[in-house]
Amino acid sequence: SEDELKYRPLFHFTPKNNWMNDPNGMFYLNGKYHLYFQHYPDDNVWGPMHWGHAVSEDLINFEEQPIALYPDEIGLIFSGSAVVDYNNTSGFGTEGKAPVVAIYTYHNMEGEKRGDIDFQTQGIAYSLDEGMTWTKYSENPVIKNPGIKDFRDPKVFWDNENSKWIMSLAAGNKIMFYSSVNLKEWKFESEFGEEKGEHGGVWECPDLFPLKVKDSEEYKWALLVSINPSGPNGGSATQYFIGDFDGHEFTIDDKFSEQLDENKAVWLDYGRDNYAGVTWSNIPDTDGRKLFIGWMSNWDYARDVPTYKWRSTMTVPRELNLVKKNNQYLLKSIPVKELNDFKSKTIEKDSIEPGELSNFFETAEIDFNRLNLEFNLKHLKENEYQIIFNNRNGDSLIIGLNNNSKTIYLDRTKSGKVDFSEKFAPNISRVKLSDMINDAKFQILLDKTSVELFVNDGEIVMTELFFPNNPLDQISIISDDSDFIIKNLVISELNF
Ligand code: FRU
Repeated sequence: SEDELKYRPLFHFTPKNNWMNDPNGMFYLNGKYHLYFQHYPDDNVWGPMHWGHAVSEDLINFEEQPIALYPDEIGLIFSGSAVVDYNNTSGFGTEGKAPVVAIYTYHNMEGEKRGDIDFQTQGIAYSLDEGMTWTKYSENPVIKNPGIKDFRDPKVFWDNENSKWIMSLAAGNKIMFYSSVNLKEWKFESEFGEEKGEHGGVWECPDLFPLKVKDSEEYKWALLVSINPSGPNGGSATQYFIGDFDGHEFTIDDKFSEQLDENKAVWLDYGRDNYAGVTWSNIPDTDGRKLFIGWMSNWDYARDVPTYKWRSTMTVPRELNLVKKNNQYLLKSIPVKELNDFKSKTIEKDSIEPGELSNFFETAEIDFNRLNLEFNLKHLKENEYQIIFNNRNGDSLIIGLNNNSKTIYLDRTKSGKVDFSEKFAPNISRVKLSDMINDAKFQILLDKTSVELFVNDGEIVMTELFFPNNPLDQISIISDDSDFIIKNLVISELNF
């Protein structure tokens, strides 16, 4: 249909039909990146959850596969993770075949309707054909509910130092850690979080993993925790904690604790549409990256966005890096480098006058629905700078840097269709800066209905949806300050 052509993204994953939310069970094996997802195959809104499945060889083109996990008599299949069990600790493997094991939440609807509190439990399933088909464990659930209503989203990794599996699990407004030697029997280890971070909503979809601090020999652990509502700009968002993990307990780093005292919470993405994101397991050591994908929506309006036949999109896959800057830890995200392989019509210009920019784009005939745009803004003063994408119908999307109020913002309030939900664009989304910016690098990805902004190689990230009445096809960069310059401009159309 017309709407489908208008809004179906070109380089972000969407299911062919019907509803999708969180990414689930991502693992890499033999050249393939697997992505499962919360899926209701019978309608375009949330409903009884299945795990949909998609596979990619390049992290950009994902091909949808048959449904991986269906609800059963224990319950619906909520979010979770998957691991490759090389040592066959689970015993599910056969004849030298390592099983892939999925660990997920069962949500029992009858129990919920009865008003029970123990209707969420954890189950497992295994695959002997690299994630294509799955068998559920006959003795599910493997973790019963201890009397906590929100008890879900197990994310498991192999702890090499302590030779055991570790699970992080969201439990109300904290994270619980469990360990296991066989993925079937789980032992409670510790819990984290009640006094720290943002607590205005339910904690969901944790992910704990080690990272080397860039340009140092230091290792730290990052714990991602999604929360809904009470994100920095409303609704759903993902906060993170930096600290240490000793095989039993996660403790916040002292420096990071000071950062939390200043800001209450630190966010992976300050836009409104990056939720429930977690990382791929089993990325080879020779690669060594931490690869992340998020659900590009927000529970505030996910069910109402004006797409038909399908609903929801994933973010572009991102690489996460931990840096220490001005004595503060920062978890940066940038688009995976695989995206570079799809750049065509790339035009580079060492420097360009702001006024020349739109002409330059026009002659280059760049399609704004598949755009990768990089540039530096230099010699900035205490002024406001705006990057405006718009069209002749008056739809506009504005990325702003205001050195007076010391904010970076994303304004979709006039970006086209916004009135499908009161919660979609009541405000401009903002990030507070610690200092004014004199010089900054911008990377912007535009697809038909999404903008992903990465400032200074992902130190500040904002991801948001928008639904223009007509495609955006004009750009300008403006300011009252007439002396700033645009350097190192790289414009590419992304073609697949
Ligand atoms: C997060 C979430 C998870 C849950 C799933 C249900 O968006 O609420 O906590 O497992 O969605 O679809």
